[in-house]
Amino acid sequence: MKRTHHCNELRLGQAGEEVSLSGWVHSCRDLGGVIFIDVRDREGRTQLVFDPQETDANLVGIASKLHSESVITVSGKVRQRPDETENTRIATGQIEVVVDALVVDNRAEVLPFQIDDPETAAKVNEELRLQYRYVDLRRPEIMRNMQLRSKVATATRVFMEEEGFLEVETPTLFKSTPEGAREFLVPSRVSPGEFYALPQSPQQFKQILMCSGVDKYFQLARCYRDEDLRADRQPEFTQVDIEMSFVEREDIYGLIEGYLKRVWKVALDIDIPTPFPRVPYHEVMDRWGIDKPDTRFEMEIVDLTENFVSSEFKVFSGAIASGGVVKALNAKGYACVTQGQMEAMTETAKSFGAKGLAFIKVENGEWKSPIVKFFSDAEKAALEDKLGIEEGDLILFAADEWLNACEILGKIRLYAAGKLKDLGKLEMAEGQFNFLWVVDFPLLAFDKEMNRWYSSHHPFTSPVVDDIPNLTSDPKSVRGQHYDIVVNGVELGGGSIRIHQPDLQKTVFEEVLQLSSEVTQARFGYMLEAFKYGCPPHGGIALGFDRLIALLCGAESIRDVVAFPKTAKGSCLMTDSPAGVEPRQLKDLHIDVKVAKKAE
Ligand code: AMO
Ligand code: AMP
Repeated sequence: MKRTHHCNELRLGQAGEEVSLSGWVHSCRDLGGVIFIDVRDREGRTQLVFDPQETDANLVGIASKLHSESVITVSGKVRQRPDETENTRIATGQIEVVVDALVVDNRAEVLPFQIDDPETAAKVNEELRLQYRYVDLRRPEIMRNMQLRSKVATATRVFMEEEGFLEVETPTLFKSTPEGAREFLVPSRVSPGEFYALPQSPQQFKQILMCSGVDKYFQLARCYRDEDLRADRQPEFTQVDIEMSFVEREDIYGLIEGYLKRVWKVALDIDIPTPFPRVPYHEVMDRWGIDKPDTRFEMEIVDLTENFVSSEFKVFSGAIASGGVVKALNAKGYACVTQGQMEAMTETAKSFGAKGLAFIKVENGEWKSPIVKFFSDAEKAALEDKLGIEEGDLILFAADEWLNACEILGKIRLYAAGKLKDLGKLEMAEGQFNFLWVVDFPLLAFDKEMNRWYSSHHPFTSPVVDDIPNLTSDPKSVRGQHYDIVVNGVELGGGSIRIHQPDLQKTVFEEVLQLSSEVTQARFGYMLEAFKYGCPPHGGIALGFDRLIALLCGAESIRDVVAFPKTAKGSCLMTDSPAGVEPRQLKDLHIDVKVAKKAE
């Protein structure tokens, strides 16, 4: 018996046909001696009927004893389901197959967890699901994610091909360049004491490919970063990695807008409007307090500095006098905040070094707050005017250095929005996607502990041309030609126009980032050299492919769109990696391990 159809294929039109199906026993019901089995494969499921009046009694007996998830192949005749027994929730719900032959390909034991009911399956402990990932992957919800992922990967290749890109594979055994995230190292057997590093991204290779004249490069690239993991981070992940020669920022924006438009159409049949807004970093921080704002809801931060310069409330006027700002946001309808929630928000403010979190609750026509008594009429009028205060609102303030004040309120904005959503006071339409470009990031940020500047993105990003003269004299003021693409509060990707002149790149390494010329030479000498032998101006971007798929699937974690994800501790529970190795292997690699191996 060889299958003739998949399990989501048969319709009324095939009634009367003799067919064969193969798949997993999704569910099995015995209704007065008649056995109904739903057989499932990747595509869907079909109802099988084992009726003692039409099927060999032996077969009915075998069918009645099958455990869920056993693998079977059956033959039988398609027939219309009797009235009242149609299932409108599945595509094959109008038919069933009356079985006349059955082969049990594999008899499943009782499973570690059941997957036939989506609600109970989704509640199964994630560790158990990851340990038996092959079972978990069979769940239609997860399998759909895998199918969408494959579809979008194909759409990516088709789009890039149409746009004239070459797909080039770059090495995954690379060299350590300890500038960004922590790396995974791979010891070399033939060169004792030396290591490869797994690439954090193909950044350097793709730039070198521009020197080679590849002109337009892309790759669905595997990247490795040994960083603290969260819902949106895995130690190995995939980027849609792109680099182009002779381009400016707008060329990259246009390409990515076209690409995302295509992806949303192919995956969700949604037409997303382009172009996306381009908003400078400073404005983004001022309005939303985070560099990856969720703009699906308003609740924007407003600046009150000019209104409180000479306020009697010293927390505000004092912050301004020492160069800071006063900012606030109106959490509309959140005067019902609980004590615990208020404390959680205050803790956020304190984690940024603030002494507290001033607030006003508007209840029964009154501004309830310990600080309002210090406010002048003009100050109150400014608040009303800028914050549109109404009954039931909660106003929250931050008086601090500019960046701190923005970030505090940025965190609180998201917290309050989450609570208001739970309370049904903030609507966020399903299927709404708000894209924006964040542009004009500062090229550099200052590390107070190390007392030196570091690249906000990476050291290959070109400064905005007008700002180049200030690179060494006023590093803080220099804007980078960096951009991030953000959607619904997720940083989907980032990139930049690169430095392509060896002198400028050397200045950045040595004079701005304070790397010695020896270190620069050892780490990046080959790049500086490549730039000397004909390097076109170039730029690019990388989109997080896992994040892209998670957005399209509406998944909360990228673990739900990765076939074999790792846990927050970086382990694969199915294969039990990482794991110890044989002493002989360590010897070959010239490695002496000082830590006791974890108990077998
Ligand atoms: P960046 O470091 O911003 O840039 O990474 C680009 C995108 O990759 C995704 N991403 C991740 N996804 C899952 N797990 C992770 N641990 C993880 N880390 C990053 C994010 C991010 O926006 N070479 C540059 C790009 C360039 O300049 O062209 C780079 O890697 O979605
Ligand atoms: P204090 O005068 O220190 O008791 O503070 C008065 C109010 O201002 C309290 O509600 C504090 O939580 C709040 N507060 C203190 N520091 C800040 C700050 N940096 N930003 C906003 N509110 C603050």
